[in-house]
Amino acid sequence: MRNPILVALDVPTLPEALRLVEELRDVVGGFKVGLELCTSVGVPQVVDALSAVAGRSGTGGSLFVDLKLKDIPNTVAGAARGLVRPGVAMFNVHADGGTAMMRAAAEAVQAAMASAPAGMPRPLVLGVTVLTSIDAATLRGELQVAADPLDQVTHLARLAQAAGLDGVVCSAHEVAAIRATCGSDFITVVPGIRPEWADAGDQRRVLTPADALRSGADYLVIGRPITRPPTSVGAPIDATRRILDEIQAAGEARVV
Ligand code: C5P
Repeated sequence: MRNPILVALDVPTLPEALRLVEELRDVVGGFKVGLELCTSVGVPQVVDALSAVAGRSGTGGSLFVDLKLKDIPNTVAGAARGLVRPGVAMFNVHADGGTAMMRAAAEAVQAAMASAPAGMPRPLVLGVTVLTSIDAATLRGELQVAADPLDQVTHLARLAQAAGLDGVVCSAHEVAAIRATCGSDFITVVPGIRPEWADAGDQRRVLTPADALRSGADYLVIGRPITRPPTSVGAPIDATRRILDEIQAAGEARVV
């Protein structure tokens, strides 16, 4: 049994991120750091500082470094090598960067593990499918992708698996189709999570935490509902506890 919540630390400064990690590390499964923090502070600095604090609890030690890499294979392989460091549990590349690029990332991680500290787990490499802020109209009308989101996501998941990735980032609405295509060992990490009491914000294809777990998601990425909860809910830790209660009340008892 493990805690499936990864809190998205979409804040601009390290002290703000550290405050959230200290507050939440005992009640979540890990933290996601993304472009906002990494571009202003630096990836090694962010990873080392946050994992040192997060790792003091039993559950909150793992970091998902969400940089959504996409470039030519050689460049992505080099970036992937830099992410093989203690504290990084998972990172991601854009699946629409293509098979050669994804394979280069997976192989670079394997190769870098040979010189990693003893006992360090291999970071999982995930493929980003279609951003949850992109809906069918945007996909077809603006990006000129003829497939509907579900078909496009399933297609990209299949490519990611064939290229040797460990799983994908996708919407909860797509987890069942991905499971049917890629099997139960292929990991699904799901953003676009909104408890009923939270604002949707810019997310379009959303689901509640309990419904997302019911759909078969392995991890839930939750940002603003936890980091900026409505005042009626309270502090980030109150929002997290409320989400855990809602998950358990819905019978999704995977939270210890
Ligand atoms: O605040 P919110 O819960 O919407 O945060 C969701 C997080 O998940 C953000 O950090 C966003 O960048 C990330 N994400 C996403 N959709 C994807 C991949 C990542 O919303 N497909």
